[in-house]
Amino acid sequence: MDCVVAIDGPVAVGKSSVARRVAVSLGIRHINTGAMYRAVALKLMRLRGAGPINDNAMAEIARNARIELPREGGVLLDGEDVSEAIREEQVSNFTAVVADNAQVRDILVEHQRRLGSEEPSVLEGRDIGTVVFRNAALKIYLDASPEIRVERRVAQLRRKGLPANREEVFHGLVERDRADRARATGGLKMADDATLIDTTHYEEDFVIDLICALVREQPCFQERLAVRA
Ligand code: DC
Repeated sequence: MDCVVAIDGPVAVGKSSVARRVAVSLGIRHINTGAMYRAVALKLMRLRGAGPINDNAMAEIARNARIELPREGGVLLDGEDVSEAIREEQVSNFTAVVADNAQVRDILVEHQRRLGSEEPSVLEGRDIGTVVFRNAALKIYLDASPEIRVERRVAQLRRKGLPANREEVFHGLVERDRADRARATGGLKMADDATLIDTTHYEEDFVIDLICALVREQPCFQERLAVRA
């Protein structure tokens, strides 16, 4: 049993915010695996542009990328803080291509397993409960209706002062859902033993409290959290 909370779910369901707040609330590590795929995509774009690139060359670049997830949040690529750069639309689109590469996935999955086995952690992504940590102590699958996910993404963009056209956001979301589900390895899928939380009608605070309560019920976390208390 791995002392890990696996949180999977579709784009714009609120995974990152929930995972971060659960981790802060329990005093454990947060590992945002999407940020790792994004960092590899950014490195590739900088080196080769977004044009076609051979799978092996892509994997070689991923293998040589130094990706760090500092405890205070964000992501470092070869020592540079790229937390903002990886969120750009172009990078998001190219990340979906990079995430299709099975070799890149193997490299990042290995990195994620190493990080997650060092200490109790919350990992979020698409394949945490199905591939990365099949023996996670707790698996959560977050879902919400496409309409509410669009609303959440629009609100998030507006908070950042970015343009947000509902129609465009909706189409982008549907397309990313399709790509995430169609991925041959590591595609988005709820693990059979995951707890499904449909957050459509829930406030985020409620979801955090619910997940933290479920984590505290897990013996491996009870032992480790007690040691830290
Ligand atoms: O969660 P996110 O939107 O930051 O993820 C960015 C991309 O990486 C998205 O295309 C899905 C992909 N991804 C993945 O394939 N596997 C993961 N564990 C996490 C993200």
